[in-house]
Amino acid sequence: MIRIGLCGFGGLGHVHADSLCRFEDVRIVAVCDKAPDRLTGKEVATNLPGHEAHFDIRTAATYTDLRAMLRRERPDVIVSALPTDIHADYAVLAMKAGCHVFSEKPMALTVAQCDRMLRARDRYKRELAIGQCLRFWPEYEALAEAVRTGVHGRLRSLSMERIGGYCNWSADNWFNDAGRSGGAILDLHLHDVDWALHALGRPASVYAAGRVGQTGGIDDVTAVWEYSDNGPVVTLRGSWLHAQFTMNFRALFERAVLEYGIAPEPALRKLDPAGAPAERIPVETGSAYVRELRYFLDCVAGKHANTRAAAESTRDSVAMVYTEHRAIKTGRVVRL
Ligand SMILES: NC(=O)c1ccc[n+]([C@@H]2O[C@H](COP(=O)([O-])OP(=O)(O)OC[C@H]3O[C@@H](n4cnc5c(N)ncnc54)[C@H](O)[C@@H]3O)[C@@H](O)[C@H]2O)c1
Repeated sequence: MIRIGLCGFGGLGHVHADSLCRFEDVRIVAVCDKAPDRLTGKEVATNLPGHEAHFDIRTAATYTDLRAMLRRERPDVIVSALPTDIHADYAVLAMKAGCHVFSEKPMALTVAQCDRMLRARDRYKRELAIGQCLRFWPEYEALAEAVRTGVHGRLRSLSMERIGGYCNWSADNWFNDAGRSGGAILDLHLHDVDWALHALGRPASVYAAGRVGQTGGIDDVTAVWEYSDNGPVVTLRGSWLHAQFTMNFRALFERAVLEYGIAPEPALRKLDPAGAPAERIPVETGSAYVRELRYFLDCVAGKHANTRAAAESTRDSVAMVYTEHRAIKTGRVVRL
C-alpha cells in the first residue's frame, strides 16, 4: 500500500484525489491545505468538468501545514497541487523528508527553481515527476506516435491552440498574478510547449510575439518554431483572453492530416488530402490525469524507470517558455 499525502486541495487537488481513489494499491492518508475551509465537507467543485470529487475527505487526516503533515504522517508520496510559486519549495521540503513527489505543472516559476528540485531529487534519491498531462492525453499520445512511426509520412506543419479565459476559482486569485503563476504563457501555453519539445525535439529556431494581459505577464502568445533539415514548422497559440476554453491541434503530414479538438466533441480525426471522408481514429481510453499518476506510482513501486516524464525534460519546457519570452522582448528570432 502506497501512503499518499495530498498537498493543495483546490481544483487540481480534487482532480488528483478523484484519480487516486481509483487505485487499489494506494491510500490517501492525509490532506494538507493552508485554507481550513478547504478541509471540511465532502463535495467541493473542481475546475475541470468530469472530475467531480469522489473522495471523502473524512477518511484522511487533515493539516494546514505541510511540515506537520510530513512529520506526523510520514507519507511515501506527496502529490502536490499548489500555486506555482511554491512548487519548488514544497517539493524540496517533501523530498528532504523522504517522500517521492508528484507535483503539478509548471515544474516551477523559474528555471533556477526547477534546477533546485532536480538537485534535491538526486541528493535525497527520490522519484520526482511533474504533471505535464498532455504526455498521457490519448489524442496527443496518438499524435506523438504518428510522428515517431512516420505512418503518414513526415510531419510538415503543426498548429496547436489552447485558449481560455482568466481563472476565477483560485485561492487568493494567485492565477491572475504573473509573479505567482507566470501568466498564460507559463501556466497554459506551457502544455503545448512541453508536448512539442517532448515529441518533436528541440527546434532550430523560435520566434514569438505576445501581449501583456491583466496578470501583468504575457497572457496571449503566438510562437513559431522551425525545425532543421526541412522538418516541420510548428505554430503554438496560447491565450487567456477568451472566455470559452478550447484546445486543439492540426497536424499536416505528407499523406494525411490529423485533427483534434474538444469542440464540438472531443475526437481525433484523420483527413485524406485526396478528399475522402474524415475518419475517426480510436485512441486509448482513460483520463490523462489518472494515467499520469498510475505511471508515476509504478515508477515509485519500482515497476519501471521514468522514461516518459523525466523531470529534466519538464525543466527544459519551462526553459523554452523563457526562450519565447526572450523572442517576445527582443522581437528577434532566437536560434538554438
Ligand atoms: N494539469 C492541468 O491540467 C492543470 C489544470 C489547472 C491547474 N494546474 C496546476 O495545478 C496547480 C494548482 O492549481 P489549482 O487550479 O488547483 O489552484 P487552486 O488555487 O484551486 O488550489 C491551490 C490550493 O493550494 C492551497 N495552498 C496555497 N498555499 C498553500 C500552502 N502554503 N500550503 C498548503 N496549501 C496551500 C490553496 O488554499 C488552494 O486550496 C497549479 O500549479 C496549476 O498550474 C494544472
